[in-house]
Amino acid sequence: MIEEVVTTWDGSLLSTRYDAETESFFAIAIHSRKRGPACGGTRAKHYESYAAAVADATRLASSMTLKMAAAGLPMGGGKSVIALPAPRNEIGEDHWRRILEVQAENLQTLNGSYWTGPDVGTSATDMDLLFDRSGFAFGRTEAAGGPGSSAPSTAEGVYVAMQATAAEKGMESLAGRRIAIQGLGAVGMDVAKFALADGASVTATDIDPGLCRIAAEMGATIVEPSQILDVESDVFSPCAMGEVVDEEIAAAIRTSVIAGGANNVLTSAAAGEELARRDILLAPDFIANSGGGMHLIGREVLGWSPEEVSDHVRGIGTTLREVFDRSRVNGVAPDRAARDMVETRLASA
Ligand code: NAI
Ligand code: PHE
Repeated sequence: MIEEVVTTWDGSLLSTRYDAETESFFAIAIHSRKRGPACGGTRAKHYESYAAAVADATRLASSMTLKMAAAGLPMGGGKSVIALPAPRNEIGEDHWRRILEVQAENLQTLNGSYWTGPDVGTSATDMDLLFDRSGFAFGRTEAAGGPGSSAPSTAEGVYVAMQATAAEKGMESLAGRRIAIQGLGAVGMDVAKFALADGASVTATDIDPGLCRIAAEMGATIVEPSQILDVESDVFSPCAMGEVVDEEIAAAIRTSVIAGGANNVLTSAAAGEELARRDILLAPDFIANSGGGMHLIGREVLGWSPEEVSDHVRGIGTTLREVFDRSRVNGVAPDRAARDMVETRLASA
């Protein structure tokens, strides 16, 4: 219900538009501009309802505020979703271009209070067009003068988060450990590469059989998408969509550590508490997957070199250790400890 979504969200602006020509619904949620202009990717997919699209935009925008503050980046949190009339791979090129042009108009209307970037369903090439038409997009291709895809830095950060979280559970290295990866897209595939190169044993899945074949050739064991949550592992890495772990899954999953690329891994705080009760250590997603934001904002706003981006991405391990310390000292789940830490920073911004 849209009423429930908008009355329970504490953001600062929700702007929506239905475009009849492209049969697409656009929602841009600005959660906070306390630390700077809002930023967050444009997600394009087919949603079961426009209320579901608005719910996704608002939840993801809130996470972007936390992500930027946790990473110490001078930006606020926002997110766009485009609810497509059909799945992304069924939208023809001309139709897609027109959809992007409408999104560029939306960005112009917001006039820099919100800057977008790539997310699920959009790419660096799409950012080229959005930037050309609006001036408010991060993550253009290198050919167009941008820093290129954020996914490699996100994957690097996810792997750092896996290592730091596993170390907290007494696993000094991931060599020889069992790692289960859900989603072998831009982030998940690179995470699989890091893990295999480190000597871990990787079990992975994707709904795209072509990606599964590539991972199998690299040495991963492939299972059906429906089986990945039943795989026994040392580390589970959700790198597909969010909202993967509800209370029931938290009570059943056989792993020691959860660290992945997906935004909003938990469906509720109760799911986080159940994980903590079972002594499963979760790397809060808005910290674990912040490498992509460091790449985009670092390169384009702060003028960092690729090496400086990498240094900051490695700092994700230090941030997580601080979160785990707070979690232990305050007797709260890591997700709660991370939110408390960031909210303190936001209060003083
Ligand atoms: P992507 O679209 O390249 O990959 C996602 C993959 O998940 C696709 O290959 C898709 O087929 C697969 N998938 C979807 N549903 C699935 C299911 N039920 N079971 C198994 N596989 C499934 O996206 P990308 O860039 O790899 O992002 C992955 C996640 O990380 C997303 O949730 C994204 O929001 C998040 N993220 C990505 C960042 C980036 O820089 N790319 C930054 C921060 C977060
Ligand atoms: N969509 C990605 C994320 O969720 C990358 C991104 C970061 C896009 C910052 C825009 C701004 O982190």
